[in-house]
Amino acid sequence: MSATPASPSTSGRREFPFHDRDFRRVCELIRQHAGIALGPAKRDMVYGRLSRRLRALRVDSFQAYLDRIEQAGDDELQAFVNALTTNLTAFFREPHHFERLREELLSRARADGPRPLPLWSCAASTGEEPYSMAIAACEAFGSLAPPVRILATDIDTQVLATAAQGIYTMERVAGLEPALLRRYFLRGAGAQAGRCRVRPELRALVDFRPLNLLAPRYEAGRDVVALFCRNVMIYFDKPTQREILARLVTHLADDGLLYTGHSENYLHAADLIRPCGRTLYRRADGAPA
Ligand SMILES: C[S@@+](CC[C@H](N)C(=O)[O-])C[C@H]1O[C@@H](n2cnc3c(N)ncnc32)[C@H](O)[C@@H]1O
Repeated sequence: MSATPASPSTSGRREFPFHDRDFRRVCELIRQHAGIALGPAKRDMVYGRLSRRLRALRVDSFQAYLDRIEQAGDDELQAFVNALTTNLTAFFREPHHFERLREELLSRARADGPRPLPLWSCAASTGEEPYSMAIAACEAFGSLAPPVRILATDIDTQVLATAAQGIYTMERVAGLEPALLRRYFLRGAGAQAGRCRVRPELRALVDFRPLNLLAPRYEAGRDVVALFCRNVMIYFDKPTQREILARLVTHLADDGLLYTGHSENYLHAADLIRPCGRTLYRRADGAPA
């Protein structure tokens, strides 16, 4: 039992007993399969999210649930990962990145000619980030068919399914400029009132695929001119961040840009990436290409 007497995790008010050893097993499993490092403060969050899985499966203890996950090949492992990821995102989050993206795309297109420019959002969550990249590209080129192709990946298959649908509540898009809303979204009516859908032309620019950043290789193409890796590395420890960065940089074009989250710090990876603007990096000289 936990030494914290008031902890609701162990107070007996819980529907399922949740022992220290259960929490330790959860932490180890999610670290092993997704790289996510969970601290003790996440214990109640873990209980809340996983107890829904126990209920859905009619399993009566964490021990039985975790035994089941550890049996190789159980689809529940994916549901377990989906339950424990944090998917907070928003359209045009950190707006300065999208201004920079527009400038980069225009100067690239002038230099490289008409070939499609590869972009990648590697923790795409429910799609707001890659669709914001698509909108930035459309705005840059004044066209619904700009010369870009956007790969959007995430470990969480549930958020990718939402992203692929491209349907959002009006609250989710409330912060967008009205002109962008009119140009890139279709308002729902009838049963879809209160929602909107990204225009099919925008949807066609983005390819959604599952990809675990812990994987030893990424099927993500090369020469990526803009790689958005934002607000995901914070969940990993520093050695894991370095391993992932070492793989990511090999996908960047020689002068491609890595866009990172505002609270991510890469002082420990100066041999892999070099800063070149606010939360922006390029591959460091001598880093694997
Ligand atoms: C907080 S969201 C960030 C979304 C978006 N990049 C943004 O900044 O708004 C973090 C995303 O990282 C994903 N994620 C966590 N671990 C991952 C891993 N090992 N591989 C790929 N994606 C992962 C989660 O599923 C989640 O959707």
